[in-house]
Amino acid sequence: MARPLLWLALLCVSLSSFAACGLRLELTHVDAKDNCTVEERLHRATERTHRRLASMGGVIAPVRWAETQYIAEYHIGDPPQRAEAIVDTGSDLIWTQCVTCRPKCFSQNLPFYNYSRSLTVQAVSCNDTICAVNSETQCTRDGKACAVLVSYGAGDIAGVLGTEVFTFRSEKVRLAFGCIIATDIAQGSLDGASGIIGLGRGALSLVSQLGDTKFSYCLTPYLRDTVNPSHLYVGASAELSGNVPVTSVPFVKNPKEDPFNTFYYLPLVGMTVGNAKLAIPAEAFDLRQVAPGVWAGGVLIDSGSPFTSLVDVAYQALGAELARQLGASLVTPPAKVLDLCVARGNVSLVPPLVLHFGGGGDVVVPPENYWGPVDRATECMLVFNAATRTNATLPMNETTIIGNYMQQNMHLLYDLGQGVLSFQPADCSSM
Ligand SMILES: *[C@@H]1O[C@H](CO)[C@@H](O)[C@H](O)[C@H]1NC(C)=O
Ligand SMILES: *[C@@H]1O[C@H](CO)[C@@H](O)[C@H](O)[C@H]1NC(C)=O
Ligand SMILES: *[C@@H]1O[C@H](CO)[C@@H](O)[C@H](O)[C@H]1NC(C)=O
Ligand SMILES: *[C@@H]1O[C@H](CO)[C@@H](O)[C@H](O)[C@H]1NC(C)=O
Ligand SMILES: *[C@@H]1O[C@H](CO)[C@@H](O)[C@H](O)[C@H]1NC(C)=O
Repeated sequence: MARPLLWLALLCVSLSSFAACGLRLELTHVDAKDNCTVEERLHRATERTHRRLASMGGVIAPVRWAETQYIAEYHIGDPPQRAEAIVDTGSDLIWTQCVTCRPKCFSQNLPFYNYSRSLTVQAVSCNDTICAVNSETQCTRDGKACAVLVSYGAGDIAGVLGTEVFTFRSEKVRLAFGCIIATDIAQGSLDGASGIIGLGRGALSLVSQLGDTKFSYCLTPYLRDTVNPSHLYVGASAELSGNVPVTSVPFVKNPKEDPFNTFYYLPLVGMTVGNAKLAIPAEAFDLRQVAPGVWAGGVLIDSGSPFTSLVDVAYQALGAELARQLGASLVTPPAKVLDLCVARGNVSLVPPLVLHFGGGGDVVVPPENYWGPVDRATECMLVFNAATRTNATLPMNETTIIGNYMQQNMHLLYDLGQGVLSFQPADCSSM
C-alpha cells in the first residue's frame, strides 16, 4: 500500500493567533508516493469503492473507510508522536489506535500512539459534558471513564475518550479524541493511516471542537504522475478567491437523529449531460423519513468517498443518455463493475455533466471528474449505482453520495454559519 506522507502546514504560528487565522492542513493522496500508473491508481480506488459499497451491511455510522484517499499527518502529545488520519466529512470522531490496542488492531504505517510517553494526555471523566453530548460516547460501567464505541461499515472501534495536544505543523490545540484499544476492521481499510479526523456536524468533529463555523478544502487531481498535496483550511483561513465565479448551494436541513445529523446534505434536483436534461423524478433525491428516526434517500457530499454513487433511477437515466450520445464509440468494459467505456483516444467525446441544485445553482462536472483511464486502452465512467450497497441496515442504498473524485480541482467552502456550501473551480495544486 502507499505510504501516505503528509504533513500539516499552518498559516499561523502562535497559539494566540489560532482563532484569527485558522488551521491549514496539507493532505497527501494515499497513492501519491507509490510508483504506479494512473490506471493502477484508479484500479485501487475502484477496488476500495467496491469494498466499501459491499461492506455497508449492518452500518450504524457509514464512515468511508476504504474509499478515502486524502490523508493528513499530525503530531499528538508532548513530546510529539507522529500520526496519520483520513480526513472525513462523513463522520465526527477524531481517533487514533493506541499502543495498548489488541488483539485485532489493523496495521498502520507509523508506531501506535503511546500515551505513557506523553505529558499532556488527560482522561475525560464520564461526568464531563463532552461525554454526554454525543452518541459515540458513554460512561464505562464502573462510572470512571468515558468510553467510545463507533460502528462503521467495515467494522467497529472501541476505546476511551481523552484529550491531547494535537500539533498541526506548529499550531497546537487541545482536542478530545478516541484512544482506540480494540478494532475489528478489515486490514488495509485505512490504507495505513492510524485513524480518522472527522469533519462532520457532530460535537466531536474537528470543526465543532475548534468552535469554527467554516472550513474549506481543495483536492488536487490524483491521476497525475506527481500528485501535489491538497489543502484543508479550518476557521478564518477558509475562504475562496475573489475573482472566480462561485456557485452557492444551501445545505438541506439536517435530521436530528444519529447518524444522519453528521452528514452534509445537498438539495440536488436534477442533472444535465451534454445538452440533455435527464428525466429523473424530482423526489429521487429527496431526504425522507422512512421510520421514526430513520432517514433514507438524500444527497450527501463526502470527502471520504472516492467515487460518486447515484440513486438507481438517476444512475439509469445518466447511463442511458450517455450511451445514446456516445453510441458507436462505446467499447466493452474491461471489468464487470464498469458500465460505460470508450477508447482512450475517444474520451474527448464524453460530455460534461451539470448538477442542478435547488435555489438555482449549477455545478459543472468536467469529463475528467467522472471518467478516468482504467487500462492502457480504455476510459470508463467512474460513477456507480447506490443500489449496489446491499443488505444495508440503514437504507443507504437510496442515498446519492458525491465522492471526492468529482470534487477534484474545486475549492469547496463549507459555511456552517450561513448554511451554505460554495463551489469554485480552482487549480488546487497552486494553492
Ligand atoms: C518507477 O517505475 C518506472 C517504470 O516502471 C521505473 O523505470 C522506475 O525505476 C521506477 N522508480 C522507482 C523509484 O521505483
Ligand atoms: C510506552 O511508553 C512507556 C514509557 O516510555 C514504555 O515503558 C513502554 O514500553 C511503551 N510501550 C510500548 C509498547 O512501546
Ligand atoms: C466529575 O467527577 C469527578 C470524580 O468523580 C469529580 O472530581 C469532578 O469534580 C466531576 N466533574 C464535574 C464537572 O462534575
Ligand atoms: C472513436 O469512436 C468512433 C465512433 O464515434 C469510432 O469510429 C472510432 O473507431 C473510435 N476510436 C477508437 C480509437 O476506438
Ligand atoms: C434498498 O434496500 C431496501 C431494503 O433492503 C429495499 O427494500 C429497496 O428496494 C432497496 N432499494 C433499491 C433502490 O435497491
